[in-house]
Amino acid sequence: MNTHKHVSKVLICTVILFFSALGLHAQNAKIKIDVDRTIGEVDRNLYSNFVEHLGRCVYGGIYEPGSPLSDQDGFRKDVLEAVKGLNVALGRYPGGNFVSNYHWLDGVGPTRMPRMELAWARLETNQFGTDEFMKFCKKTGIEPYFSVNMGTGTIEEARQWVEYCNVKEGPYFAEMRKKNGYPEPYGIKYWSLGNEMDGFWQMGALTAEDYSKKAREAAKLMRLTDPSIKLIAAGSSNYRPNADPNEWNATILKELIDVVDYIALHIYVGNPDNNYYNFLSTPLVVDQRTQIVKGMILKEMEKAHRGNRPPVYIAWDEYNVWYRARTDESMQGTRALEEHYNLEDALVIAGFLNAFIRNADIVKIANMAQLVNVIAPIFTNETDLFKQTIYYPLELFANNMFGTSLDVFVDCETYNTDEFYIGLGESTTRQKDVPYLDVSATYNDGSVVLCVVNRNKDKAIVADITSQQGDFSDVFKVYEITGPDIKATNDFGKENVSTMQKPDIKAKGKTLTYSFPPHSVTMIKGRIAR
Ligand code: AHR
Repeated sequence: MNTHKHVSKVLICTVILFFSALGLHAQNAKIKIDVDRTIGEVDRNLYSNFVEHLGRCVYGGIYEPGSPLSDQDGFRKDVLEAVKGLNVALGRYPGGNFVSNYHWLDGVGPTRMPRMELAWARLETNQFGTDEFMKFCKKTGIEPYFSVNMGTGTIEEARQWVEYCNVKEGPYFAEMRKKNGYPEPYGIKYWSLGNEMDGFWQMGALTAEDYSKKAREAAKLMRLTDPSIKLIAAGSSNYRPNADPNEWNATILKELIDVVDYIALHIYVGNPDNNYYNFLSTPLVVDQRTQIVKGMILKEMEKAHRGNRPPVYIAWDEYNVWYRARTDESMQGTRALEEHYNLEDALVIAGFLNAFIRNADIVKIANMAQLVNVIAPIFTNETDLFKQTIYYPLELFANNMFGTSLDVFVDCETYNTDEFYIGLGESTTRQKDVPYLDVSATYNDGSVVLCVVNRNKDKAIVADITSQQGDFSDVFKVYEITGPDIKATNDFGKENVSTMQKPDIKAKGKTLTYSFPPHSVTMIKGRIAR
């Protein structure tokens, strides 16, 4: 044996043994925050939601006239309370795929026109429409965000809806609103120009070029009716193997950059192969797609004529876990898309929210799809409701993470995934160096909030959290979402997964050390004294 090699081996072993004896072998993970290293302002609209005429989202969800649980306007009081807990910023309405066969005039005034609803195979009674949704918004403090029909609808129909909603008086549709009992205009600021128009499943689907032309003209008419509105273009939602989402996004951004204010992106992920680690890495796809579209926006912004208007931003205006209720049968009728969530889904949702915060400079809207019953955080039956597991991370973020997003440094162990489908009807991915700790942080006038997902299924991870500028001061509150079983679900009368408040941490100086439990979401909230 080579003596030199032998001596080195002995030396290395001695060093390892020495440090093991001192208890220094297992390095703590490192999280460093610097309140001067910022990414962007966290827009409150990151905590938005979505109400579509689909399954029991509207009828039997938020709206159930005649139910002993409903108020005088037909709204479920228990649902209103649960919705308020989510501090929802924007409510996207009325679809989704539904909007591509929706004619808003059917849903206003004393006579409502029942229609075959072709997106989700239901009868749409139109008992609930614009004015009812605005009542819901008023009761919950939600700001409306309307989607116009760019499928079977015309640009004039879109314009008339803006008139109905936003013009005070005079023209026909403004007067119609007044006659219907709503004298004041609603002043709806956010309008999206259709939904998923690149999807072959979309009624009236278009090519990128045809969509750009139609959206541009719709935008013109809508803005001439109310110049103050913000417009959202339908970015690609078609990441299926044969689609070219980047081509769609590049084309519509090129054509619409001086017209729109946001580009909408959608993502649904799932765990059909029951591979926990693959599934837990899916929020990284949000970071990656965001960066790609951000590059396209920056490219087009260079030559855009936008005057004083802010740059174009990204609206992730549909995101969620959705893969169980995805058979032909479970996607139709009044019980469509009733997904029952578990703990691992809640971890993925926290990962999505972390990704939005990490990209707060460019992502300014994010809507969890949807709000009640349909792939939703709130689930009802005729007599009760329960909060699904995914309710809890959204509630934590929407009530705590505001201010400036910080550029957090994270050093921890990582893993690689194999190649897998992100979700049903999605592309494949292979993620390398996925950090076990997924982190975001915000800073707001001395208050710092960190959200940490420990992706490790079996091991707690101890991390030293260091403040680079200023000392941690006083008491830090700690909130945790976890449970013994990653497949744990909630149900009527059974709350297995929820947020627990943990003992406060007394923090002093520049570092605090915390052990993040396996498969958990932890939010730590306190102050930094500068
Ligand atoms: O949220 C469910 C559906 O998913 C929406 O209607 C559509 O936009 C997307 O494909």
